[in-house]
Amino acid sequence: MLFFVDTANLDHIREATELGILDGVTTNPSLMAKEGISGVEPVLNHYRKICEIVGPGRDVSAEVISTDYEGMVQEGKKLAQLHENIVVKVPMTRDGVKAIAHFTELGIKTNCTLVFSAGQAILAAKAGATYLSPFIGRIDDMSWDGIELIKEIVEIYTLQDFDTSILAASIRSPLHIVQCAKAGADVVTCPLSAITGLFYHPLTDIGLAKFLADHKKANS
Ligand code: G3P
Repeated sequence: MLFFVDTANLDHIREATELGILDGVTTNPSLMAKEGISGVEPVLNHYRKICEIVGPGRDVSAEVISTDYEGMVQEGKKLAQLHENIVVKVPMTRDGVKAIAHFTELGIKTNCTLVFSAGQAILAAKAGATYLSPFIGRIDDMSWDGIELIKEIVEIYTLQDFDTSILAASIRSPLHIVQCAKAGADVVTCPLSAITGLFYHPLTDIGLAKFLADHKKANS
């Protein structure tokens, strides 16, 4: 399972990269706005910076703002030309699916976002999306079960032999990451805090303190 960090915060991206376990980055317009990045050139420049921080071979999702097919295609081509790491992120709409199919023909990688059902997952895979982003946290927020959706899509994609990678998004906790791994997600994209939360266990801290204390006693 690949680990992506879901942020436009450069410090978080640097920290995740330095951990040595990062495979990519996803962003969205809300995350860009959260960092105060606005205007066409500053946004493009920010994507370039992210690509440079993570280095070669790590996919960076950059989302289109257009909602019509022509606009998405024009914007997506511009984003794809920015850097070899860029994956064009496209919303799950009629025009979005059409744009994904076009990008697939051009060999441009895509991430189909705002996915909330198995039916949408089938459409994105048919269009040849590289990644599919089901938003599990937002499903949980409505008292439905986001992990169940991941399991359903894994089952369908396996049966149908679809190539699209399931990128579990809207992850809120370390537990979500573990559940996604068990469900068979190909990728998780998470806030840095969810990734670092995986480190902690009180018995590890207690055990390490005892090892060090015993070592000190034996060597004093
Ligand atoms: O990758 C999608 C993600 O950014 C949405 O997360 O927490 O706003 O539902 P959230």
